[in-house]
Amino acid sequence: MLYGGDYNPEQWPRDVWEHDMRLLREASINEVTLNVFSWAALQPDEHTYDFSRLDDIVELVSSHGMNIIMATSTGALPAWMSLDHPDVERVDFDGRKHRHGARQNACPNSLTYRTYAAALASRLAERYGSLDNLVAWHVSNEYEGICYCQNCAKAYRQWLAERYGNIDRLNEVWGTDFWGHTYRSFEQVFPPDRAGDGSYDDPCAVLPASSLDYARFFDDSIVGAYNVEKDAIRRFDAATPITTNFMGNFYQYDYQRWAKDIDIAAWDCYPRIGSPASDVAFWHDLIRCLKQRPFLLMEQTPSRMNWMPYNALKRPGQMRQQSWQAIAHGADSVQFFQMRRSRYGCEKFHGAVIDADGTDRTRTFREVTELGRELARVGELIEGSMPKPRVAMIFDWSSWRGLRNAVGPSRDLDYLSESKAMYAELYRRNVPVDVVGVDSDLSRYDVVLAPALYIISNADAARLNDYVHQGGRLVLTVMSALSDEHDALHQGFIPAPFHDIAGVWAMETDALASGHTVPLRFPDDAAEAAYTSTPNTAGRVLCDVLVPEEGTQTLAIYGEGEYYAGTSAITRRRTGEGSCYYVGTFLNSEAMGVFMETVLDDAGIHSTPSPQGVSINTRYTATDEVLTFIINDTDKTTDVRIPHDGVDLLADATQHARLRAGDHVTLPPYGVILLNSALSNPKD
Ligand code: GLA
Ligand code: ZN
Repeated sequence: MLYGGDYNPEQWPRDVWEHDMRLLREASINEVTLNVFSWAALQPDEHTYDFSRLDDIVELVSSHGMNIIMATSTGALPAWMSLDHPDVERVDFDGRKHRHGARQNACPNSLTYRTYAAALASRLAERYGSLDNLVAWHVSNEYEGICYCQNCAKAYRQWLAERYGNIDRLNEVWGTDFWGHTYRSFEQVFPPDRAGDGSYDDPCAVLPASSLDYARFFDDSIVGAYNVEKDAIRRFDAATPITTNFMGNFYQYDYQRWAKDIDIAAWDCYPRIGSPASDVAFWHDLIRCLKQRPFLLMEQTPSRMNWMPYNALKRPGQMRQQSWQAIAHGADSVQFFQMRRSRYGCEKFHGAVIDADGTDRTRTFREVTELGRELARVGELIEGSMPKPRVAMIFDWSSWRGLRNAVGPSRDLDYLSESKAMYAELYRRNVPVDVVGVDSDLSRYDVVLAPALYIISNADAARLNDYVHQGGRLVLTVMSALSDEHDALHQGFIPAPFHDIAGVWAMETDALASGHTVPLRFPDDAAEAAYTSTPNTAGRVLCDVLVPEEGTQTLAIYGEGEYYAGTSAITRRRTGEGSCYYVGTFLNSEAMGVFMETVLDDAGIHSTPSPQGVSINTRYTATDEVLTFIINDTDKTTDVRIPHDGVDLLADATQHARLRAGDHVTLPPYGVILLNSALSNPKD
């Protein structure tokens, strides 16, 4: 299993390099990611390339038996390029033209940038593509940002013309009669920046279809720039996987759209201090589902970050716990930013495997070394194995963007948070989840969750209708299925594309003041006759006023307080074997618990109980080995009940490795058990 991460020896004198190598090997580091930010050094001017220093670094790490992930260095522009060719520079939302400086500063639609980036990538591939120890190409670094320059405006108009054919069609689809936008030619269309349709408020899309299209156009632009480098690499290296490092919770680019152009999914995991373990797991699951294969944990900090209002250290054991959590959700690598602490620049307070003291005596180094030994022991068995969820959650960039752009109905409405809130309940129950795009194959799942899936095309809605007709269970919520793919409201009884299978009409939607809730009552028995005030079950943010059709069951009603007290808040309609749930409000965690219990029971999916803060996840190998990761996500010692027989692969000599179902084991803060059992012989 790859164990390593970013290494930037360029920042230190050469006599440090050998020393680093010794320490990294001691820590069982077997991979370094090189050349992430060196464009200006590799190419001092338009015509000159100088790879001598990189050659030395490659030789050094190779001679120490390390694998290499080679970055292409195109994440930051060399000064000469921006000075000689200002078309490579970005223009921001406010219309300001940027210079070189910072990073991710190139306009992806600049032909100059693309040409030089491809030239560099192909030279790197020619030079290093046949190295035995090259394991992947890493194009650019953490692509981010949107450009509004003239290159982009021009490319955008072409993109629109290709998509819509003629301007009348664009007017129709965008609904340009709104606020007098009717266009006579594509030349009249501009990116929605502050000087135009971005001027009204922030975030607010005056013409949501235009803002959505600009985001999609920009997906194509950035993936286009990535593909230029990818193609350049492929001219010299036909086989090595090519990828780029994605980020968590990042709305600007649609990673599901990008997924087909990467060979292996990779992301950088920097959870905020105190963010729930389930939030991190959600993103691991989303990244794994991009390729439905194990992914790379391309970066995490071994100790502290550099960006927060304050930078708490990871507590003893916490880096290990987070690493195992990533693996439990499908990571086939553990990688850090970075190998040695920066001496210069704005990241010098960022954690690193080797600190400025250059010793092996730090806590961080010790913990990295211990984890390295564990991975060296068990990594190979884990690699390639996958979880097998029966539940899918749809996560959709168009819905995310559409709701971010929306002026109504509430500023407290947040798509990502609502998705994570629903996911958290499954995480708590140790029910594994695939987080997938709306267009993926859903037939293999017993339950499909579509919280606030605000945008859905008729074609995708038809597939989801089929899914229910074929026996699937679909969960919709308030704000699901309101708009089509151009963010125009579907016409009909909301949720219009699902009105028949949901058997309910969301006649109107109330917005609650910040922090306010409406109580929810669930029936106290299956007879549905009486609704109890289950303690603390409540709806948040928005409340649909629902009109159920005959034959639609009510699973919960609104409690006292608002004029819709006593009316349906959650419904279920059965269609043959299938069912469609409609949840008219965003549930608080108590209500989510009650509701999810019903859905899972319905599907015959069992939760695996665990104490609060302990998560249980399973990966299955090709040879039917079952790998169960039992992880204490908290800083409290806790007792767990072992779910099935197996051998704890991480037990040290002082512990009992062989465990039986029902055994009680004490998990220390951030403790991890990796239970190995064979499918065919669970008694092992
Ligand atoms: C990102 C980048 C790295 C570095 C780290 C610091 O993940 O890819 O270059 O800036 O953040 O957290
Ligand atoms: Zn641009």
